[in-house]
Amino acid sequence: MNELPINQIICGDCLEVLPKLPKVKMIFADPPDNLGLKYDGFEDCWPSYESYAKWLGRIIGAGLRQSQIFWLSYNVIYQSMIVQTSADFAKEIGCGWRQFIWRFTFGQHNKSDCGNGYRPILRIMQPNAKLYPDAIRVPSKRQTLYNDKRANPKGRVPDDVWEFSRVCGTFKERRKWHPNQHPEALIERIVKFSCKPGDLVIDMFAGTGTVNRVCKRLGVNCIGIEISKFYCEQIAKEKHIPDGLI
Ligand SMILES: C[S@@+](CC[C@H](N)C(=O)[O-])C[C@H]1O[C@@H](n2cnc3c(N)ncnc32)[C@H](O)[C@@H]1O
Repeated sequence: MNELPINQIICGDCLEVLPKLPKVKMIFADPPDNLGLKYDGFEDCWPSYESYAKWLGRIIGAGLRQSQIFWLSYNVIYQSMIVQTSADFAKEIGCGWRQFIWRFTFGQHNKSDCGNGYRPILRIMQPNAKLYPDAIRVPSKRQTLYNDKRANPKGRVPDDVWEFSRVCGTFKERRKWHPNQHPEALIERIVKFSCKPGDLVIDMFAGTGTVNRVCKRLGVNCIGIEISKFYCEQIAKEKHIPDGLI
């Protein structure tokens, strides 16, 4: 790769593409969950829990090697394995890790038991990586509920449980040609927390191009990687990828 494909989508397997790219400020990864969803061009079905967990471990290693701050959005059933892998990396290379909870509304209704209403989001970062908590301040309860004069007018830095709605079929941001997508508001918080305008982000599993779209709006550079040519073509039709698909 001679020239850096900034603000483009690269069609390929992220584990093959990523090592050809430079180290960046932040990488985001929202891999398929091994739940048999109907994606274009590949089977979301690994032969066993162990083989999927091993693949996820490779994703974490590759993302961490190539970034200062690595975010992984994953299904709660892999939590114990992810926590163990993160602790191993922390011990091995001295990085810090934290688990966030994306608490969502509009989850699937389960009549026989309580449904799932959250998704863990892992952050692993190099010891010297800088975060921007002031960029993600939210109105505090002191401000909104109690009109308390002592409240900081700038609001407060949120805790580690983040509430954002899932992207429903009726939402304007929904791309119906893809089986799922993350909400732009959630991605915006992650990008603002980790980056300044002009920084470079990689999305290892671009899907509908949510990270590219949000980065474009925030003035942050982004390279998306996506294995499906069809999804790449759909993303490239949108204006936020001015140079399209490579
Ligand atoms: C869960 S979706 C990502 C959705 C995305 N976060 C969004 O908001 O639109 C996972 C995506 O990863 C893609 N994918 C699967 N395996 C891949 C691989 N090895 N390298 C790159 N992309 C891959 C799938 O085609 C799918 O579009």
